[in-house]
Amino acid sequence: MPLISTTDAWKNLTELRDQMSGVPLSELFDADHIRASDFTIDLGSLYIDFARQRVSNDVLIGLTALAETAGVSGFIQRMAKGETVNQSEDRPALHMQVRRTSGDGEDAPLKAFVSGVRKGEILSASGARFQSVLAIGIGGSELGPALILDALGDAYGGALDVRMCANIDGTAFARATGGLDPRTTLVVVISKSFRTMETQANAERAAIWMQTALGDDWAKNFCAISANVDEAGKFGIDEDRVFAMLEGVGGRFSLWSAVGLPIALAFGWEVFTDLRAGAAEMDAHARSAPVRENAPMMLALLTVWNASFLGYGAEACVPYDTRLRKLVDHLQQLEMESNGKRVTQEGYPVDYPTQPVVFGGVGLNVQHAFFQQLHQGTTAAPVDILVPARAPTGDEAQHDLLISSALAQADALAFGKENLEQPHRHYPGDRPSTVIVYDKLTPFMLGKLIALYEMKTVCAAAIWGINPFDQWGVELGKKLSDSILPMLSDTDSAPASLGSLIDILNRMRRGDE
Ligand code: F6P
Repeated sequence: MPLISTTDAWKNLTELRDQMSGVPLSELFDADHIRASDFTIDLGSLYIDFARQRVSNDVLIGLTALAETAGVSGFIQRMAKGETVNQSEDRPALHMQVRRTSGDGEDAPLKAFVSGVRKGEILSASGARFQSVLAIGIGGSELGPALILDALGDAYGGALDVRMCANIDGTAFARATGGLDPRTTLVVVISKSFRTMETQANAERAAIWMQTALGDDWAKNFCAISANVDEAGKFGIDEDRVFAMLEGVGGRFSLWSAVGLPIALAFGWEVFTDLRAGAAEMDAHARSAPVRENAPMMLALLTVWNASFLGYGAEACVPYDTRLRKLVDHLQQLEMESNGKRVTQEGYPVDYPTQPVVFGGVGLNVQHAFFQQLHQGTTAAPVDILVPARAPTGDEAQHDLLISSALAQADALAFGKENLEQPHRHYPGDRPSTVIVYDKLTPFMLGKLIALYEMKTVCAAAIWGINPFDQWGVELGKKLSDSILPMLSDTDSAPASLGSLIDILNRMRRGDE
């Protein structure tokens, strides 16, 4: 496949970009009185308003043509059928299949385990009922479950205290185990490869912590999720406590698989099933809706337009919902690890910008942090503004304040406010945003929202022609870290670039003046 930038569809969009340059958003609204309701996608409980994006009707037609030229629909269909869409690793991407599963068949042992632990039929080696779960994993083996535990905890949390631990800085483990009793704690080690240094180090630390309470029986309070069942067995975990994940399920798309065990333990199998069902509904929508009505495709096209044509190097995600405070962490891995690429699936360098930096945080908090720059800075970024229609705690008066703030930001960014006499009070406007409104944040809705961004990520990759399912970029740092480890005690072997840094670190660690 030639570079997408050589196609007529791409060239047409470049021309449209030049023609539109300098046309303010206010003019686009004035010229098209139905724009506010027309530049939207209405999925009932989920509503996407992209009228404040710097696109005209012609640009939307051009973007639709781009999606068709790039064969985005075909890519999604091939992915859904389990064909090889990850060329560098010669694998399919099977997360859509995983979320269609019912809990019978391959999932039956996992479901039975969840039920056994929650009902107190599966007990700790101490004979006590499990009161808590310590889930150890990093990256895709942590971010998705951590987001969902946090988002649904208030409404669906039960007796089991489920915590997650990713970092090896010591603090993360100390905090995750603070107040927990190893005799009533189930440790879940989540690692697709079962080779990730951080997860190995924390699993070993947890084994020592467990030994203090259970001695040689420590492994009886452990279970694992991995595609490398042998390695998990070598660690000492019983075969029937190792739940397999498929090689074809990438880490950042894996929360729907056995990686979601902490979610199912915390909230029950039904909640986990609803979450998957919401995601499966988004998949069905993505597979069947025409481009212009297709929510993930439109989000992807807008990101491509903003990044590759308008030159935005970043995009923000701002949920006006504390329950989604971990969404940005998850999206950073999902979008930046997937699409932070510079060559096509076939290995040719691209000549256009791909994935922008993803950042964000909870509105209104971030209005008091980085919104100043979004309104008046020299570097702007398109924003996704996520608004829950319902007040999570039933406080309607406060929810009115929250909604009006969110909508105010969208309009202030889009239309600005002229003040030429006082330049510091001038708001230039024309800063793009998309408003995403969702009904009640049920497990089903949360699944749908996360799958919206997953699908968006895959669609954007299909347009750029890059592989969203590998992550070779993280390997070099891991390898270098292995080679640097022995240099900490043998400074002479360190390269010139690191010798003095290692000396200084060693001096400080020894407490020398
Ligand atoms: O960051 C690189 C990465 O390979 C992610 O893709 C993955 O989710 C994470 O490390 C953890 O890997 P594993 O599940 O194999 O421990």
